[in-house]
Amino acid sequence: MQKVNHMKFFIDTANLDQIREANDLGVLDGVTTNPSLMAKEGITGKNNILKHYVDICNIVDGDVSAEVIATTFDEMIREGEELAELHKNIVVKVPMIKDGIKAIRYFTNKGIRTNCTLVFSSGQAILAAKAGATYVSPFIGRIDDSNWDGIDLIDQMRTIYDNCGFETQILAASVRTPLHIVKCAEIGADVVTCPLSSIMGLLKHPLTDIGLAQFLADYKKANG
Ligand code: E4P
Repeated sequence: MQKVNHMKFFIDTANLDQIREANDLGVLDGVTTNPSLMAKEGITGKNNILKHYVDICNIVDGDVSAEVIATTFDEMIREGEELAELHKNIVVKVPMIKDGIKAIRYFTNKGIRTNCTLVFSSGQAILAAKAGATYVSPFIGRIDDSNWDGIDLIDQMRTIYDNCGFETQILAASVRTPLHIVKCAEIGADVVTCPLSSIMGLLKHPLTDIGLAQFLADYKKANG
């Protein structure tokens, strides 16, 4: 029997208005953030950062990735446990480095969910899955920027994860365009995380606008 994959939609921002707008559309399954996105919103200082994660969790009923700043095992554990305690929907985002892999294994054994971030190769994706990551985030837009094909990586990862029976979910990140979303759906990514503009871009087709204008004009003509 063919595996059913409903491909979750996460929004990739720390902007509360955009998170609300996507959530109101009724298609949002979660949120990803990173230190750059938090800084862009002017969220600074530990207490404000932790409060902001809780504010996001109070808007969206879905997984919210909160990234550790630490880069050593002991510090990642301390920081990750603190983040995980904030809300049941927090997923601890951990960078793809040696101590990050060790930390993911530790969190997995403790039942804390993780998102392995900054993944740019299938080899890295295998390691993240072996460590038991809940999600793995390949950055497709940044791969495209470097003159490789980010979508090819999603394709390879899907094949490898299916061949090996890995349960880690492929969370396509660094999505830049609506076409990235469509390609990820075609391949069978488990999740796409994207800016609001890419989600809204899925709505657009000129023939829809032309057709609607015609329908409304015809209605007006017929009904006075
Ligand atoms: C998501 O988890 C990543 O942090 C994000 O998608 C990176 O996107 P960017 O390459 O547009 O910064």
